[in-house]
Amino acid sequence: MDNKTAKADYTINDLIAKRWSARAFSDRPVEKQKVMSLLEAARWAPSSSNEQPWRFIVFTAENNKEMLEAARSVLSEGNSYARKAPVLMCAVAKRTYTHNDKDNRHYMHDVGAATAYMFLEAYNQGLAMHVMGGFDVEKARQSFEIPQGFEPATMIAIGYYGNPETLPEKPREKELAPRSRKPIGELAFSGRWGSTTSII
Ligand SMILES: Cc1cc2nc3c(=O)[nH]c(=O)nc-3n(C[C@H](O)[C@H](O)[C@H](O)COP(=O)(O)O)c2cc1C
Repeated sequence: MDNKTAKADYTINDLIAKRWSARAFSDRPVEKQKVMSLLEAARWAPSSSNEQPWRFIVFTAENNKEMLEAARSVLSEGNSYARKAPVLMCAVAKRTYTHNDKDNRHYMHDVGAATAYMFLEAYNQGLAMHVMGGFDVEKARQSFEIPQGFEPATMIAIGYYGNPETLPEKPREKELAPRSRKPIGELAFSGRWGSTTSII
């Protein structure tokens, strides 16, 4: 959607400008090759010690209808719009480094990086995507059989873009609103915390 393109103050890559968190999904199935491309993109994200602490559990009707329903059922009420998406994923994070079993302080950071890579590839493939923290973590852990030492991080909805007019009022309003961000001056400092007089 045109009004979702970032109103960037400085030049940025087109994909970054155009990626956004869609809520209106069509029921058109997503080609297997495209789903694999998304997983491939996530695979090439950077991570601390190249641990690659991300795991993705993929749910589609073609793969396992029952498990897709199980994935839909962990979503919070506010994220009901995502139940229409033909592909759901659960992003899972490994808490420890494999080479020494020590806590990996960066595990969630790195899963976020992989998910961001996937996000950009989704838009590159003409798909829509939405990352969600609003889901029943314990239910997900149990029904997806996630082992000890791994933490469900987010649920991800993927599909072709649908018709925003079919959304209930609340998500429809969000869907049609322009994207907003804090100004760079609130987010970047020069030399020491809080110093924003001139960043560079
Ligand atoms: C970790 C994480 C959790 C999120 N959880 C939710 C969620 O539960 N429900 C939702 O509708 N959006 C969720 N979002 C989407 C954000 O609200 C969205 O990225 C933000 O408003 C910026 O919009 P944009 O992605 O379109 O630029 C989440 C995003 C991230 C990265």
